[in-house]
Amino acid sequence: MRVLGIESSCDETGIALYDTKRGLLAHALHSQVAMHAEYGGVVPELASRDHIRRALPLIRQVLERAGYTLKEVDGIAYTQGPGLAGALLVGASIASGLGFALNLPTVGVHHLEGHLLSPRLAEPMPEFPFIALLVSGGHTQLMRVDGVGQYRLLGETLDDAAGEAFDKTAQLLGLGYPGGPAISDLAESGDAYRYKLPRPMLNSGDLEFSFAGLKTAVLTLVKREGLDHAADIAAAFQLAAVEVLTAKSIAALKQNGLNRLVIAGGVGANRQLRERLNSEARRRQFKVFYPPLDLCTDNGAMIAYAGALRLWPNGVGRVGRAADGRFSVRPRWELAELEAPT
Ligand code: KG4
Ligand code: ZN
Repeated sequence: MRVLGIESSCDETGIALYDTKRGLLAHALHSQVAMHAEYGGVVPELASRDHIRRALPLIRQVLERAGYTLKEVDGIAYTQGPGLAGALLVGASIASGLGFALNLPTVGVHHLEGHLLSPRLAEPMPEFPFIALLVSGGHTQLMRVDGVGQYRLLGETLDDAAGEAFDKTAQLLGLGYPGGPAISDLAESGDAYRYKLPRPMLNSGDLEFSFAGLKTAVLTLVKREGLDHAADIAAAFQLAAVEVLTAKSIAALKQNGLNRLVIAGGVGANRQLRERLNSEARRRQFKVFYPPLDLCTDNGAMIAYAGALRLWPNGVGRVGRAADGRFSVRPRWELAELEAPT
């Protein structure tokens, strides 16, 4: 069975074709980063309009690369939420229109479920149950995952998300948007121990996070020191964030008696986070799984994959109901609300 996946929740148009037997056949992405960069963040209306421009050409491109036509697609998956309402509507309406016209089952996917399951697109594939650390621009959550749709929230950020903290810190350091890769690159040449930044909630005894204080500490530091040592500040910030994320992930594994940790979401691309987790994993005998590097940030492959698992929970065979042309989006949608597919 082949699923066409459409992601348009934020500033990336992602399209992919996934085959339940052969895996990912092709995927393509258009990032709007350059377009939003001059505004210092995503402008929702511009994002929606750009998704409209990009989606159909990308769908054609993906099908061509995979060597299939639309007639050979068996189902369609799109990001239903959470995300920007206008941006979500573009993917949802294109998916539902195609599904209706081609008489195909069409499913709305939770964006974070896509991220969460994306490490299963890599080898070795993490078996259930596992602990997932979801670290994106909008979310920082630790979840216990017992199967598709079986997600229990163990802890989350009380204020800023980890990616948001990277983005805001980058702005304070004059690095532009998105901040994660920029901070990570600058930190390479910095001394992480020149300045000491707080590790918020490190010893709170629970699995909650807080990153707003860290950002404020960076602001205070920049005001005091200026930007002469920006690389050192970037390195100190990154180390503080990485230490907290690593420590809480280990605590979640311990509390649940599990030894598999899955990292998902944009911040999962961070080199230092990966190094730290890998060395802890060797030391403490747990396994850590990541999505392929190009599938860490938003993409269509994770949506096609999660959609396939929801359309055909048992692999091949049962075909869901064809789309009736109606659709809705859910800009706010908690992951823990999801249920296992039946
Ligand atoms: O998952 P994602 O692409 O979009 C959301 O669903 O939010 O995550 C985007 C976030 C941004 O905040 C970006 O700065 C961060 O992921 N990010 C990184 C890195 N690459 C992307 N943060 C730290 N290090 C990176 N290498
Ligand atoms: Zn995302």
